[in-house]
Amino acid sequence: QGLCCRTVVLSIWLSMNALLTKWRSPAAVPDRCQGIEMDAVTVNEDGIPYFFHSGFLFKGFHGAAERANETFTELDEHQHLGHVDAAFRLHYEDHPTEHNNIIFFLDTQIFSYYQHKLEGGYPKNISEVYPGIPDHLDAAVECPKPECEEDSVIFFKGDEIFHFNFKTKAVEMKEFTSMPNCTSAFRFMEHYYCFHGHNFSKFDPKTGEVHGRYPKEARDFFMRCSKFSDDSDHVERERCSRAHLDAITADNEGDMFAFRGQSFICKEVNDTLKVEPIELTFKEVKSDVDAAFTFKDDLYLVKDEHVFAYRVGENHTLLDGYPKTVKEELGIEGPIDSAFSCDEHQHVHVVKGQLMYDVDMAASERNATNERSIMFPSDAAMCGPRGVTLVKGNHFYHFDTLKLLFSRAVPERHQVSLELFGCDH
Ligand SMILES: *[C@@H]1O[C@H](CO)[C@@H](O)[C@H](O)[C@H]1NC(C)=O
Ligand SMILES: *[C@@H]1O[C@H](CO)[C@@H](O)[C@H](O)[C@H]1NC(C)=O
Ligand SMILES: *[C@@H]1O[C@H](CO)[C@@H](O)[C@H](O)[C@H]1NC(C)=O
Ligand SMILES: *[C@@H]1O[C@H](CO)[C@@H](O)[C@H](O)[C@H]1NC(C)=O
Ligand SMILES: *[C@@H]1O[C@H](CO)[C@@H](O)[C@H](O)[C@H]1NC(C)=O
Ligand SMILES: *[C@@H]1O[C@H](CO)[C@@H](O)[C@H](O)[C@H]1NC(C)=O
Ligand SMILES: *[C@@H]1O[C@H](CO)[C@@H](O)[C@H](O)[C@H]1NC(C)=O
Repeated sequence: QGLCCRTVVLSIWLSMNALLTKWRSPAAVPDRCQGIEMDAVTVNEDGIPYFFHSGFLFKGFHGAAERANETFTELDEHQHLGHVDAAFRLHYEDHPTEHNNIIFFLDTQIFSYYQHKLEGGYPKNISEVYPGIPDHLDAAVECPKPECEEDSVIFFKGDEIFHFNFKTKAVEMKEFTSMPNCTSAFRFMEHYYCFHGHNFSKFDPKTGEVHGRYPKEARDFFMRCSKFSDDSDHVERERCSRAHLDAITADNEGDMFAFRGQSFICKEVNDTLKVEPIELTFKEVKSDVDAAFTFKDDLYLVKDEHVFAYRVGENHTLLDGYPKTVKEELGIEGPIDSAFSCDEHQHVHVVKGQLMYDVDMAASERNATNERSIMFPSDAAMCGPRGVTLVKGNHFYHFDTLKLLFSRAVPERHQVSLELFGCDH
């Protein structure tokens, strides 16, 4: 009962971390955890977010900056790539020739990319393609129907907002009075976000209304940073984060442990959620877990080449003889992507890429056998009395039986933040 988390020492740890962050010297390459303002944000063809900041590109929710010209060469050739004003992914199924193109706005010009290649005829003048839309934009975001009444693009410049009807090319000026001036705008999982400084606000694309408690700190929800201030609400941050999970497992009591970066979330059977640094509870592991599984009441964490087994209790203690290598414990070369056990007393299932293996934990010489291909690669997986859950990006999928993992029928997609952790926005 309530064994999974303690909160006493948390505040001391946080203060230390905040100090360390402040002392770190500034680098030439921008660090998104330092609270920088993004010039433009979009998703790529695969739905991966791309954040642009003065010639640099951050892919996904964590990781270092790359030079934007490494991915989008021509932006540099045509114009010194100081910055991108605005970007969006064209996402209109009624316009198949342009569907899924990524559009960039630089000063007076527009660049249209498909699969990282500049389309023929580009760059063009903004006025050619989007008549009535000004140069030197601040932000742009796609708004397909029915989220907007017609397939549209919403453009932002200063406090002016333009709705551009993609089909008729009609421009409608809107006043979004409660919205701050956006420096970039982003559509993600059918929600609309205006970024300003290192804050963001979620808005209704039709009315521009901002509902709820905004602005919020972008680093809490769109970046996977180590904790950078004591002011943010850590439970809310982890509950609502869009960053992917590293690993997940549920113990026999029904408590769920989910690992992300340096923190883990513990959800108790009664839905109470707690967040704690991994470093405090699983000292030997510290952060960035690859896989987690529960086997015979013990919690196993896998990181790189090693497996750590913990006896869960008031203090979780590392079992004797651990860490062991992944090869020794699971009969396969590490690193692995996820692992789970379905309460069958003997087997652990290991997932590496799209392949799954069975490990007989009763065997003295462990061997990962029975290789087979599962439906799709995933970030994290767990199993319980009611079946298997695969987590991929911001979504999870539930399979009533293990067998269904090998079928072709992709089950219903659920949202991690909303349905697993009860985030309300
Ligand atoms: C849930 O359980 C925990 C620990 O057992 C307890 O501290 C907490 O008050 C409970 N919450 C609710 C809403 O019952
Ligand atoms: C990208 O820009 C940097 C800095 O201007 C330059 O050194 C580098 O050669 C460029 N890379 C490519 C692939 O153009
Ligand atoms: C684009 O704009 C420039 C500068 O205003 C102008 O000289 C040029 O003719 C325009 N190109 C086209 C294709 O309209
Ligand atoms: C928003 O943009 C307008 C210009 O369009 C400017 O006058 C105003 O100061 C800006 N507001 C903020 C808070 O930057
Ligand atoms: C960000 O939002 C906080 C409130 O959540 C506010 O105090 C702060 O001034 C904002 N900062 C910027 C740069 O918008
Ligand atoms: C758990 O750890 C705390 C702090 O290190 C210690 O005071 C306590 O006695 C430990 N409890 C058990 C059951 O070992
Ligand atoms: C592991 O299993 C494979 C395939 O079943 C078998 O060829 C191999 O000899 C086994 N290795 C060990 C160490 O048992």
